[in-house]
Order: sequence, then structure tokens, then C-alpha cells
Amino acid sequence: MLEAISTIPVANRDVLDVGTGSGIQGLYCALMGANVTVTDIDPVSVGWVQQAAQTLGVTLTAVQSDLFSNVSERFHLVLFNPPYLPSESFEDRTVDGGSKGKDLAARFLAGLPTHLNEDGTALLLLSSQNDPASLIADQKGFEVSVVAKRAFFFEELQVLCLRFRGNHARQ
Ligand SMILES: C[S@@+](CC[C@H](N)C(=O)[O-])C[C@H]1O[C@@H](n2cnc3c(N)ncnc32)[C@H](O)[C@@H]1O
Repeated sequence: MLEAISTIPVANRDVLDVGTGSGIQGLYCALMGANVTVTDIDPVSVGWVQQAAQTLGVTLTAVQSDLFSNVSERFHLVLFNPPYLPSESFEDRTVDGGSKGKDLAARFLAGLPTHLNEDGTALLLLSSQNDPASLIADQKGFEVSVVAKRAFFFEELQVLCLRFRGNHARQ
């Protein structure tokens, strides 16, 4: 994900890091001069990233939120490395992704059109276990490309890049 982010100029741009966890992506963008908002459903993560930003001497906005629920703005760059392991329940929110591991990714994609700038970019990490082709096929409003890949012993991770088709926001 960081490899993919590093190809996008973010200085002075508005960046949203959804499911920030340790904050690695949001903190990187803040260090690169972006105006960063991070969210996580886990309040411990939100507090941790706020503290890490202070330690690193950068500012960002950290919000506890179920995906986009407490975020009203649009952003130039939206990032999400979702919990993507197939699971029956959501006991461990860091990894459990529901059926085929793609529930969180699908909810993210449904909310993305109202949180991405007209000329914005979203990066979404998926595993081959998530049947990425079917998720891509459902994205009629977006142009989707794979911008980074890495194979591990039981899966291939892919970073999808999404932009509005024709660069026009639909909502
Ligand atoms: C796979 S971890 C990614 C952490 C970090 N962004 C990274 O790339 O290393 C998924 C993160 O999504 C968060 N998360 C799970 N469900 C969420 C939801 N409904 N809304 C927001 N964040 C959620 C988890 O708490 C966890 O921090």
C-alpha cells in the first residue's frame, strides 16, 4: 500500500485513511505534508495514532468512525486496507471480513462516491481470497486498475486504484 501511495503527490492535499490501525498510511501522508484525517472503529487505534502524530511532530485529525459514518467531507486521496479474511462473524475487527472477506471492502466501495473528490483517487487493498474481479465488475461508476501486487504463500495481495469514470462525481 505504501508503495502505491508513494507514487501519488499528497502535499497540501486532503487525505482520508480509513481503518487506520497503527496509522502507518495516514502518518506517512502527514509526514509528506498532506492534510490527513484518519478513522478507525477502534478507539484505542484512534488514540494511538493521535499520540504517534504528536511524537512525530505532525498534525492530523483522528476520528472514531464506522467507515465513513462520522466523516462528511470529500478527499483527494482515500485509503483502505480492510479486514479481509473470510469469517463467519466479526469477532476480531482487525482481520475479520465476513463472507469471502469482502463485506468491509464492499461497504467501503458503496460509501466512496460521496467522499471522493471529482478528480480524486482511492486505493483499496484486497486479497485473491476476496474474489477481487467480482468487486471490480460491480464498480460501474469507477475506473479500476491494479497498481501493486505481492504474492504470499496462500494469497496474492493487490492494491486497486479507483477513479471516477470520466472524472465526474456521480452523487
Ligand atoms: C487490516 S487492518 C489495517 C490497519 C492499517 N491501516 C494498516 O494498513 O496496517 C484493518 C483496520 O480496520 C479497522 N476497522 C475494522 N472495521 C472497521 C469499520 N467498520 N470502520 C472503520 N475501521 C474499521 C480495524 O480496527 C483495523 O485497524
